[in-house]
Amino acid sequence: MPHRPYAIDEMISAKAIAARVEALAKEITQAFAGTEKLVVVGLLRGSFVFIADLVREIDLPLEVDFLEASSYGDAMQSSREVRILKDLRGEISGRDVLVVEDIVDTGFTLHHVVNLLRSRAPKRLEVCALLDKPSRREVPIRATWTGFEIPDEFVVGYGIDFAQRDRNLPHIGKVRFTERAAG
Ligand code: PRP
Repeated sequence: MPHRPYAIDEMISAKAIAARVEALAKEITQAFAGTEKLVVVGLLRGSFVFIADLVREIDLPLEVDFLEASSYGDAMQSSREVRILKDLRGEISGRDVLVVEDIVDTGFTLHHVVNLLRSRAPKRLEVCALLDKPSRREVPIRATWTGFEIPDEFVVGYGIDFAQRDRNLPHIGKVRFTERAAG
């Protein structure tokens, strides 16, 4: 029995991700220099690996909070309805906030979350997304910082799942559906 009914081709190596995370963290550190305490908000579940690496490279006083939004469930297509499954623990009014997202695809998730958080009147709100698929965008939104722009491929790893699998891959891989899986 194969481990999974599809193949995964490496798209972005763990080493390339680490180098990009370090560069993003430097830019974020500079952009928020002088902050009293940055609130870094990870969007669950996909951002849990990225946020863990990113915060360890940011040289600022910060706290970490999480918000869980879901529009896909286990489906491959966005439902276009973003549900908040878990809200932040803390207040963000008057605070510097950095939202950390794994991937921006149609943009529905980020658009919904940014609108929700802006309604709470943060002092400043920026977004850092590891991956961006601009060709898939249905809602006009962009992250302040993007790790990598990628083509319209189904990707997994480094926190990103395929039906909840493969979040534990250390690199970003492209899913290739094999004949056996298709048949
Ligand atoms: C995925 C991903 C992003 C969102 C991007 O979340 O983590 O949050 O979809 O897609 P969009 O730009 O088309 O909205 P998902 O709903 O699969 O939940 P997960 O993070 O728990 O995997």
